[in-house]
Amino acid sequence: MQTVDSQTTRSLRLGMVGGGPGSHIGATHRQAARMDGHYDLVAGVFASDAERSRVFAATLAIAPDRRYGTWQEMAEQEAGRADGIEVVAIMTPNDSHYAIARAFLERGVHVICDKPLTNDLAQATELQRLAQERGLVFGVTFNYSGYPMVRQARAMVRSGELGAVRLVQVELASGWASTLLEAEGHKQATWRTTPAIAGKSSVVGDLGTHAHHLARYITGLEVSELSAELSTLVPGRQTDDNGHIMLRFDNGARGMMWVSMVAAGNLHGLRIRVYGERGSLEWVQERPDELVVRPVDGPQQILARGAGYLAPAAQRVNRLWPGHPEGFMDAFANIYSDIAAAIVARRDDSAVDPLALTFPTVDDGVLGVRFVDAAVESNQQGGRWVDVRTP
Ligand SMILES: NC(=O)c1ccc[n+]([C@@H]2O[C@H](COP(=O)([O-])OP(=O)(O)OC[C@H]3O[C@@H](n4cnc5c(N)ncnc54)[C@H](O)[C@@H]3O)[C@@H](O)[C@H]2O)c1
Repeated sequence: MQTVDSQTTRSLRLGMVGGGPGSHIGATHRQAARMDGHYDLVAGVFASDAERSRVFAATLAIAPDRRYGTWQEMAEQEAGRADGIEVVAIMTPNDSHYAIARAFLERGVHVICDKPLTNDLAQATELQRLAQERGLVFGVTFNYSGYPMVRQARAMVRSGELGAVRLVQVELASGWASTLLEAEGHKQATWRTTPAIAGKSSVVGDLGTHAHHLARYITGLEVSELSAELSTLVPGRQTDDNGHIMLRFDNGARGMMWVSMVAAGNLHGLRIRVYGERGSLEWVQERPDELVVRPVDGPQQILARGAGYLAPAAQRVNRLWPGHPEGFMDAFANIYSDIAAAIVARRDDSAVDPLALTFPTVDDGVLGVRFVDAAVESNQQGGRWVDVRTP
């Protein structure tokens, strides 16, 4: 079980930007980073307000001289220290990812960034170029790829168990913003429905990039073209809140994506189905320990997380015995641990477990931003098919 707790060398010195008090995803990043002991949180700027940031940093037992007021100050000062951070994790609202990631890459710091990578494709490809040029690891937390049964689905599809993939149906249809939450001062809804912060499509940037990565991660196929209808279904909202997107994949497979924040009554609503020549499989995030397999020539099976018959890729990231549920936090931690394995291998010039190298990177982040652009372009042109492949 879990190569992630087999690390023998010292932890990576980690800094964080964002994720302050009351934030949605900050605590998840911190717990995921801590879970396997690969990272030591030694510096941070956690809030846009310098004083709030410093007070919060103190509650995390960060040394007084490393409780920063701004990310610019942190980038500058950490670069000047012999024990400066080796990796930075960025979990601020979308519009700031680029400037922050860039500042740390330029100072030779590995990056873990939340999605969408940026709101602008030129900025995303610039980050990709910088990471490549500097030889730095750049992970993007498309965290659903950290679930053991998603890794199992990937192993099965990639080994040809379903035959050639023909259809991919993916949905991330949540109901969290079915009312005009932003009018009530709801913090996360307010920035997610402000185009200058959330990006040109809120729903595709926020949810579509996850669904897009998950479909690509499991199938190994790339989306080549799409046709999108993006809608605003809650009156008074400034951004889209629902998207229906038809997909064409590079092997000729067809697919559909439904992303929504107004699927009232749904909780998170993440589900993927992949249909090949010989059968299909289905994974639903709210039942993360099951993978349903439906062969054309036999009865339906439900594979169980932790079982001995699973692929090595799924066994490797298993944390608990079968029948003992695990979930979002564990999957997020698997992404953090895979990224640590890649950074440690570069630091120590050592070999890395190839199974650690499927974590989402800046390349996946760029494709996500391109997917958002194409969806917006298609929607603006009445659902015209738009080529998603980057020139
Ligand atoms: N991977 C996932 O499952 C997942 C889930 C939720 C959010 N996200 C992503 O994480 C990011 C943050 O989302 P959230 O919902 O946690 O937002 P949030 O509004 O809850 O929290 C943002 C935090 O960043 C801080 N912040 C803002 N500007 C800052 C700055 N310049 N310097 C330092 N801190 C700053 C804020 O004070 C706040 O603490 C977004 O990009 C979002 O898309 C990812």
